[in-house]
Amino acid sequence: MVRTFLFLFLTVALAVVAMAGFRGQKFSNTPLQITPDMKHQPKVITQHSSTFFADGRADHVPVKGTIPVGYNLSGRYYQTGVNNLTKDSAFTSRPDYKDTGAMGDVYGSGIPFTVNEAFLDRGRQRYEIFCSVCHDRTGNGNGIAKAYGLVTIATLMDDRIKGQPDGQIFSTITNGKNTMGAYGSSIAVEDRWAIIAHIRALQASQSGKVQ
Ligand code: HEC
Repeated sequence: MVRTFLFLFLTVALAVVAMAGFRGQKFSNTPLQITPDMKHQPKVITQHSSTFFADGRADHVPVKGTIPVGYNLSGRYYQTGVNNLTKDSAFTSRPDYKDTGAMGDVYGSGIPFTVNEAFLDRGRQRYEIFCSVCHDRTGNGNGIAKAYGLVTIATLMDDRIKGQPDGQIFSTITNGKNTMGAYGSSIAVEDRWAIIAHIRALQASQSGKVQ
């Protein structure tokens, strides 16, 4: 019984390898794909050709007047109105404090923008969009992603994070940290600082004492 099973198993395994070949091997003919996953999709790939467009190219210059997500008609980054950033000033990456959170090798503290109600409100809104899935609205680290297996989420209410300079949190948002991804390419510089202002407000609100 076992011998028959082993024989059949080996025969089938050999047949599969013989037909499909090893992964990563170079073929001149189209390989047989037993599980094609999502390798073939009707989409354009950057720097490839495409039969969809008459000129055969996949890449195209955006139509004149195209407005990137997050900007309004005048080319201003859609904002609180506090700092009126334009699309050229929203995602800067100069080596200064505003863009890195650090001065030389040292993280600094302080929000390099006017912190008012509109700014804090923007921070809360961006935090709830970008961070709360993991860190929860309250910052305790029990966001919905935890229920799906991301168990290493830090609580932002930890004394360790409370004690971190603002610039270090800016760097975490911009570049990510360990298992947390980087958000520097999707959250504008000013919004990153607004999020930090909101986190500081959350931390202060949860460390009050009942009189
Ligand atoms: C997909 C889940 C996820 C999202 C979204 C997320 N984080 Fe995190 N974050 C994590 C995880 C996981 C850690 C713990 C990383 C580690 O292992 O050190 C973490 C750690 C942190 C830390 C602590 C870093 C340190 O020095 O230990 C800060 C601060 C932080 N996140 C802020 C944010 C902010 C602000 C946002 C929104 C812009 C955000 N995170 C979005 C998963 C996430």
